[in-house]
Amino acid sequence: MSQPPRERFGSRLGFVLAAAGSAIGLGNIWRFPYQAADGGGAAFVLLYLFMTALIGVPMMAAEFIVGRRTGRSPVGALRTLGGRRWIPLGVLYVVTPLVILSYFSIVSGWTLNYALDAIRGFSTTPGERYAAISAGLPAIKNHLVLMVVTTVVVMAGVRKGIERAALVLMPTLAVLLVGLAVWAAARPGASPGYLFYLKPSLAELLDPTVVKQAATQAFLSLSVGMGVMVTYSSYLSKQEDIGREAVVISFSDFSVAFIGGLVVFPVIFALGLSDDVRGATMGALFISLPGAFAEMGTLGRAIGFVFFSALVVAGLTSSFSLLEVGVASIMDELGMGRKVAGLTAGLLATGLGILPAMSLGILGGLDKIVGELFVVGGVLGMALLVGWKVHDPLAELVEGASPLFRRIAPGAIVTIRYVIPPLIAVILFFSVKDAWVLLLGN
Ligand code: PFF
Repeated sequence: MSQPPRERFGSRLGFVLAAAGSAIGLGNIWRFPYQAADGGGAAFVLLYLFMTALIGVPMMAAEFIVGRRTGRSPVGALRTLGGRRWIPLGVLYVVTPLVILSYFSIVSGWTLNYALDAIRGFSTTPGERYAAISAGLPAIKNHLVLMVVTTVVVMAGVRKGIERAALVLMPTLAVLLVGLAVWAAARPGASPGYLFYLKPSLAELLDPTVVKQAATQAFLSLSVGMGVMVTYSSYLSKQEDIGREAVVISFSDFSVAFIGGLVVFPVIFALGLSDDVRGATMGALFISLPGAFAEMGTLGRAIGFVFFSALVVAGLTSSFSLLEVGVASIMDELGMGRKVAGLTAGLLATGLGILPAMSLGILGGLDKIVGELFVVGGVLGMALLVGWKVHDPLAELVEGASPLFRRIAPGAIVTIRYVIPPLIAVILFFSVKDAWVLLLGN
């Protein structure tokens, strides 16, 4: 059966923004600040930066090597490079993003709900509002809206849908975030927020759970270990410097996470919500922030609208990439056209989302098992494949590379071979242990 020629990104910027759009999401603006405050402040930020550089960048490069060399989505890519025995790992890379999308879209749906609330006026009983919208029919409704947008964009194609949307949405997100960070900095009472976020506390750094948190946060945030970067890079030409792009995308992702903290904590402290964040869960902010915005009148509505719209935009560009893995896999493996494949994968993720939309417990459980365990396993599998199975990965990495990246590239391959597998094995051990405790109790 002859395949039509593979789609391509139209420009380097288009690819970088689409991949950065995948990486930059709620994980940066919402999850990262919490993890940092919880896990040692500035010390956690440094640990996270270290994980991004040591594991994140090489693993993103590894996925680019696999995607660009084969020009295939995960299952076909792994079959080509590793043979039949590697197909199950390819299947994991198709299942993981679809499941993640199903619950990620629910949380994105909450942010959409609050962006609309900003227009209508925030509720004065925020706790009840959160209970009403976070699960059940309203959650399903918002999930549906976001899944329709995601499916329509992905059905339009790599260049006409995903790339075009990223070229508009990513600069919009940057403007919204920088605007918020500046506004937050100008609030009286913001400085304790910076201190809370960035206080260096070294004790946590020796805690294996914190180290595991920093690593899994880096994987989730960079969208590695879930087939996304394999799929996106299958649309790249041999002229692209994939090592350089891995560095650019990873550090943009880090920067936005760092800025996320510079927005969230000063806002929390300036709004007098600091008691809510100490020891509270992430969900608490979905109650306290809208509550505080409600008390600020019109200005609160404006700022709240910008804040939640930024989250919606960040969530959407991540959702495109999560869905694209399924769509590309159906197209490549079953020979379907993009429209039918898009509809099929879109319906699948929409249907899967009904369960986490009904119960926050299921949502949290999926995040622990799939978002953590499957992703860490996916990263380990990719490191083993590229480090030990793929023929001459260095040749692919330096293809199209500038002299600088040609010099760095061998170091990246050595890291993928020898450093990352044992490190991830330890992290995986702690992830399994935590998942075990979650499933079966102590
Ligand atoms: N990388 C994105 C983020 O950090 O928000 C998208 C994402 C991927 C979110 C995987 C959640 C997830 F489990």
